[in-house]
Amino acid sequence: MEEKRREGLLEEKRLFFPPSEFHSTAVIQNPEIYELAHERETFWDERGKRLEWFKPWDKVLEWNHPFANWYVGGKLNAAYNCLDRHLKGARRNKAALIFEGELGDRRVLTYQDLQREVSQFANVLKSFGVEKGDRVIIYMPMIPEAVIAMLSCARLGAPHCVVFGGFSSDALKDRVLDAQAKVVVTSDGSYRRGNIIPLKENVDQALRDVSCVEKVVVVQRTSHPVDMQSERDCWYHEVIKNVSSVCPAEPMEADDMLFILYTSGTTGKPKGVVHTVGGYLVGVSTTHEWVFDLKEEDVYWCTADVGWITGHSYLVYGPLSNGATVVMYEGAPDYPEKDRYWEIIEKYRVSILYTAPTAIRTFMKWGEQYPSSRDLTSLRLLGSVGEPINPEAWMWYYKHIGGERCPIVDTWWQTETGMIMMTPVPGITPLKPGSCTVPFPGVRVEIVDPSGNPVPKGEGGYLVICDPWPAMLKTVYGNDKRYVDTYWSDIPGVYFTGDEAKWDEDGYFWIIGRADDVINVSGHRIGTAEVESALVDHPSVAEAACVGKTHEIKGQSVFAFVSIKEGIEIEDSLIHELKAHVVLKIGSLARPDDIFLTAELPKTRSGKIMRRLLKDIAEGRTMGDTTTLADAAVVNFLKKNIDAQK
Ligand code: WT7
Repeated sequence: MEEKRREGLLEEKRLFFPPSEFHSTAVIQNPEIYELAHERETFWDERGKRLEWFKPWDKVLEWNHPFANWYVGGKLNAAYNCLDRHLKGARRNKAALIFEGELGDRRVLTYQDLQREVSQFANVLKSFGVEKGDRVIIYMPMIPEAVIAMLSCARLGAPHCVVFGGFSSDALKDRVLDAQAKVVVTSDGSYRRGNIIPLKENVDQALRDVSCVEKVVVVQRTSHPVDMQSERDCWYHEVIKNVSSVCPAEPMEADDMLFILYTSGTTGKPKGVVHTVGGYLVGVSTTHEWVFDLKEEDVYWCTADVGWITGHSYLVYGPLSNGATVVMYEGAPDYPEKDRYWEIIEKYRVSILYTAPTAIRTFMKWGEQYPSSRDLTSLRLLGSVGEPINPEAWMWYYKHIGGERCPIVDTWWQTETGMIMMTPVPGITPLKPGSCTVPFPGVRVEIVDPSGNPVPKGEGGYLVICDPWPAMLKTVYGNDKRYVDTYWSDIPGVYFTGDEAKWDEDGYFWIIGRADDVINVSGHRIGTAEVESALVDHPSVAEAACVGKTHEIKGQSVFAFVSIKEGIEIEDSLIHELKAHVVLKIGSLARPDDIFLTAELPKTRSGKIMRRLLKDIAEGRTMGDTTTLADAAVVNFLKKNIDAQK
């Protein structure tokens, strides 16, 4: 259904111009910026000046295809730019973080507070032997200490590697090992709808037989009992006591690593996406100000978890480098009531809200009575990220949250791009519901056919990025070859995003979805190969194939076809067991909604699983070409039985 809707998207003709008052007070008011930015290097050279550098760069870009080096020769520190820099003037006592706990507790940290605590914790890490270049894993709930830990690492030049708190101990272990981390920062637990997720227990399990980790720092959040290993583990509140709050920020080369963030791809093993200090910070700082039209007095709320790139770029580095006031909420949108988001907006007079289509569709389902009973008049701009937003959800967001006065910025980007790449610039770009509009100034993208030839307007193809951009990933951690193979090989000369998109007569872009074996569940990237290997890890499973199935709220859900080893009974209880096994191996975000057990999977004569047909079956539509199948009976059997279940 959703796919059909997306096919018909180009018929979406509604156009929304920036309200004149918004335009006349906007950070960017001159549409000529799009043309000016065609001088790409001059444009980004200019943007670099918004940060404070210990040493200016000699050259804006050195492009050794496909390896970029931005702001060559420049030295800076990301934490310094997010904190110390703001202490010199009026921002010193401005709220940097307004934290709202799930239980209703609250903490406000000014820029001065945050700078002090970051410096202290950086000194703690230093005392554990953490030096420039050492990797630190952060496995935390959405609490201020997560941000403090990130910035402390940045201050020392120790790349952080945040692992989303919803990942299982197995997934955590993979990341600890790949990064060869020296320290893990975690908390005893994390609140979710009043329950406790045992983060420390997961860390303990993950670290069994792992030798690289020397210290585990535990923030007390839930205060339930946890095991502490006397040599290895320590409490955050104990080690931070009486520690000096003076810690010089390490001068980093612009091209030094700022962090690693793991993301799913088409193979079973997640990739460690590497971002650097200089280019990344210029990219997220510029886009954060321009896309969200940031003003000094704004109260900005990004609902993403720090475990994802959105949390890195638009909860931490973008907004804090711009001296913004950031709202950080720990919990679920329906706890204790379904109006929790609207309550928070009313309470803190939030002016900019950045959230995901899956959340918007959920709110739509809950009904407009929840937002309408709260005062949302402080809002002036709305944002969307993570997956295509369908025009219905866009209109609902526009009307019921934005009161028909707030522009919506639909921002397309990726973990790898680091910064927003396609988006309206809200004071100048007319909006079309469902389209991420046009590339950000200084960014050039194209839609091409499989050989790399641009397709004419009105048509679709693969979305590629033509030129290097400042916040682009530097490489895949420890694996330059994988970087080249994954992003720069499928289509000659350009960066392949993995997405399929169309562009219309006005040159507006419409994302259709992933063109590769990646499923987008609630805006989170799940690799089919990862779920498949989790399933095959179960003793009863012979083979597994997963596809994305259109889901009303989540965008897509995981549909798994599983063939069972001979001699094993096909029982319903096995389905529950398999789902639980995926949760154990990866985390609940990857749990398949549907598992279909079968004796065999449909294959081509050369033995390749025909995912395309499985997708047709999962979506309940007529199957495409079946002539290359080895045995048509298999697929007919699947189709008949799955259709019968509906
Ligand atoms: C994939 C990247 C970037 C932050 C969150 C996801 C999809 C992202 C949009 C959008 C349509 C979008 C793409 C992309 N995506 N934003 N506004 N419209 N699709 O980061 O996990 O790296 O996933 O998310 O498919 O490739 P990610």
